[in-house]
Amino acid sequence: MIREGFDCKYKEHLQRKISELKKERGALIIAHSYQRDEIQEIADITGDSYALARAVTMATQKTVVFCGVSFMAESASLLNPDKVVLLPVKEAGCPLAEMITAEKLRKKKDEYPEAAVVCYVNSSAAVKAESDICCTSSNAVEVVRSMKEDKIIFVPDKNLGRYVREQVPDKEVILWDGCCVVHMRLTQEEVLNARRAHPDAEFIAHPECRKEVLDMADYIGSTAGMVKYVKNCPREEFIVGTEMGIIYKLRQDNPGKKFYVPTKLFVCANMKLTTLGWVARSLEQMEWEVRVPDEIATGARRSLERMLEVTQKKL
Ligand code: 13P
Ligand code: SF4
Repeated sequence: MIREGFDCKYKEHLQRKISELKKERGALIIAHSYQRDEIQEIADITGDSYALARAVTMATQKTVVFCGVSFMAESASLLNPDKVVLLPVKEAGCPLAEMITAEKLRKKKDEYPEAAVVCYVNSSAAVKAESDICCTSSNAVEVVRSMKEDKIIFVPDKNLGRYVREQVPDKEVILWDGCCVVHMRLTQEEVLNARRAHPDAEFIAHPECRKEVLDMADYIGSTAGMVKYVKNCPREEFIVGTEMGIIYKLRQDNPGKKFYVPTKLFVCANMKLTTLGWVARSLEQMEWEVRVPDEIATGARRSLERMLEVTQKKL
């Protein structure tokens, strides 16, 4: 997905420049699966939020360019305080993460003092610091199941929270009224239309989609979960219920299979802010370094590390 103009004309030049700068800086470039195709092309590692958080922790490089949104780079920095984590576009945020504040979460905790707080990584460091443990879409069910408390406040994504509640019926899961503005765009009608147009296709969906959409899915999982599922599935055609950047990886891994996007609106504008030009600039200027203030970092790191403890034994 190359933009017309500067990046399109200079794609190869910029990719060469990035590769030179990467060597000079001894840097690692990682990219989320929703990044532009040309960014995923130059990345050393691509994947979902969980895989990328783990990848940074295992990396030997001191400098990491994180092509994604701010909460992802923040988590990478929290887990690796000795590394320099760069976010190429300072403004690349996640609207879902902004749907809750630490202060509002504290009020909710006062309402349910007996409950534990499980916080989706799509949140600020301050919210993570107020939580007992973090989760990603690939391990949310496992994390909630691992909690000793019967009552869980799940923040901030209500769709993922509702999905977890269905998978872990023995827990009382209290939802927060937050959602991903991109995944909420997909409607039941659009899935029905896509199913009519492609009757042999399976429908795979991210748990941030609406409940009525998830109810129609043949498979529900994180972006990495979808990549794995499609690779192992004998079916040849898939309707893809998540941000369309993932199609790059799906096509790469499965050249013979066909992928359909049920809505043209499946684009996360924040993820698409990162271009080759910004990545080159990031390496050249060593900007923008992401670092969480110490007073928040300790608590936020504890929530992230607790998630890794619960889930990493499976890796
Ligand atoms: P993943 O954990 O599946 O990568 O999802 C992150 C995200 O932002 C989904 O919108
Ligand atoms: Fe945030 Fe949604 Fe974009 Fe993911 S797709 S980064 S949840 S706005």
